[in-house]
Amino acid sequence: MARTGEKTRRTVFAPRIAELFRAHRGEPLFRLEPDTIGVAGPDLMDALLRARPANAEERPTFKPVLGRHVTRAESAALMRAVGADVRAALGTPPTPDPAALVGRWPGVAHNYLRDLVFGREHRRFRVLVDRRLELTPKITWAAVTTGAAMLWRPGSGPTSHLASLVLDADNFPDRRFAMYLYRRVAAPVCFTVAALVTNALWLGAPFDDDTPNRHLIDEALRLLPPSWNILRVASPEFGAVDRRIGAADDVLLLPLLSHRDPALWDDPDGFRPERWRGLDPDHAPGYLPFGHVRERCWGRNMVLPLAEHLLDAVRRGGLTVDPRQTTGRVPLDGLLEVADVRVVRR
Ligand code: HEM
Repeated sequence: MARTGEKTRRTVFAPRIAELFRAHRGEPLFRLEPDTIGVAGPDLMDALLRARPANAEERPTFKPVLGRHVTRAESAALMRAVGADVRAALGTPPTPDPAALVGRWPGVAHNYLRDLVFGREHRRFRVLVDRRLELTPKITWAAVTTGAAMLWRPGSGPTSHLASLVLDADNFPDRRFAMYLYRRVAAPVCFTVAALVTNALWLGAPFDDDTPNRHLIDEALRLLPPSWNILRVASPEFGAVDRRIGAADDVLLLPLLSHRDPALWDDPDGFRPERWRGLDPDHAPGYLPFGHVRERCWGRNMVLPLAEHLLDAVRRGGLTVDPRQTTGRVPLDGLLEVADVRVVRR
């Protein structure tokens, strides 16, 4: 359980996360499992992430697909394509009807973002950003395989930059590979931004008019970082950084804990967006919501404007969390997010 600023909302974390806070908050390094060391000290996190680059299996977005390596050039092309699609969507955003954002978040936010960025896409692509695909990898496999089997180009309407990468592939295995990658880059646009803005609403809505969106985002990312851990598998470089890390130990870096370390933050559990007035999120020690400076998230430059766009819509529409909802649950389920936030008009 954790306090949420001065609001009367309680955030209830999944037992394993609550246990991490209870047992390890403020500890720079600790044994988490027989073969895993947890790390939350800012200097140690920095040294370990500098020790070596992430390997192919550790890269969340571009780990191999069906055993096939994703090259640097392919990754860069995909990110350029989705970036162009997000920019196009934000270039002529429809003013959202506030009523469309009322309901249960993050689901409502996810669907709004899906329609904003991928709404004009042919169904075979749009289905790849569906929340239901999270339920089982088999559904993703079926959606990808069916879409890849379709040879024809969608007849009318614009084709997104991202879909063009699939349609340009000239055989089934390449098309299927490209469909998986479409899913890998398109889905996080909806999942992660919906999680981030849901968390911000839960923590602080209704927001003061004079608090900039960026400060709300930085503070929500601090208290509820959707990417709450960064895994690095055992490797000889780590023992050289700290002798307590054995040759067979994986390392789990925990921004979840460093973001609430009482030695680093005043009122560590309080939602205080104003603290960011004098702080640089790129250089605050132990603050790693988008990873380490050396390998920072490639999606950040589209996540931030999308999150700001949603927050603007929330503010313009006078939306907030239903005052009758006083408990928000954070399950242990991939992204760290409050699972079911009821958003209403004030
Ligand atoms: C709230 C939104 C997001 C957060 C908090 C976030 C967080 C992170 C973090 C912590 C890392 C570093 C991981 C590591 O070092 O192991 C990372 C890397 C990365 N992120 Fe994000 N991310 C977000 C959204 C996105 C989106 C929407 C995309 C793509 C469309 C994306 C693509 C990537 C890529 C390509 C990398 C580099 C590593 C890799 O190859 O996967 N991220 N992100």
